[in-house]
Amino acid sequence: MNIIINNKNELNKLAAKEIIELVKNNPQAILGLATGSSPVGLYEQLIIDHQENKTNYQQVSTYNLDEYVGLDLNHEQSYHTFMYHALFKHLNINLDNTHFPDLTNPASYTKLLDENQIDLQILGVGSNGHIAFNEPGTLFTSTTDYVKLAESTRNDNARFFASLDDVPTEAVTMGLKDIMKAKKIILLAFGKNKAEAIKQLVEGKLSTDWPVTILQNHPNVTLFLDEDAASMLKK
Ligand code: GLP
Repeated sequence: MNIIINNKNELNKLAAKEIIELVKNNPQAILGLATGSSPVGLYEQLIIDHQENKTNYQQVSTYNLDEYVGLDLNHEQSYHTFMYHALFKHLNINLDNTHFPDLTNPASYTKLLDENQIDLQILGVGSNGHIAFNEPGTLFTSTTDYVKLAESTRNDNARFFASLDDVPTEAVTMGLKDIMKAKKIILLAFGKNKAEAIKQLVEGKLSTDWPVTILQNHPNVTLFLDEDAASMLKK
């Protein structure tokens, strides 16, 4: 596992550079994308680069990690809406090439991911160690499916909604086994509330109590950490 510790701005630029290089070398690159606050600065860097250098996304495909169940896809907090405003509408990407888990047939997404290996997967991490919406206790063999959100996750995400009651209780998420199929994984973690999950990932035991620890078994993972997220690491 590679670990880069720096300030958020620098990390966003470094992570963006990896994606831009990939897309330049392989115009048909397949990207795995995340939502939440962690990737926002990285997406901003991709947009700036696209405006300045015309990096071409016409043939790029994307696969998002997850989507809430029970929100209209046009709801302002749906992950469809988030991705459109945070990234897609600013690039020359073909929206037909942007994919999300099928809320009526989750298993079809696993099949799609078997047929289209992700070149580079972007991940955030929940404060309880979840990746995508794979909450503590999820089997490492899990594939795309319906899941219940942990109360701590609903609390964490309540900041995006008018009230806690408005936060969905269910989602469809790419499974842990699906995520592990990506050729390369970049995980972004900023802030003190990620420090425990990062400690478990880097120094802890492989455990379904901390789903993020499954990345210990992946051959090509780079962590992009700010000082706060790295603050519980021994060295
Ligand atoms: C969300 C998403 C995850 C994300 C995580 C952290 O609920 N489903 O994909 O990585 O929680 O969110 P944030 O980046 O806002 O801290």
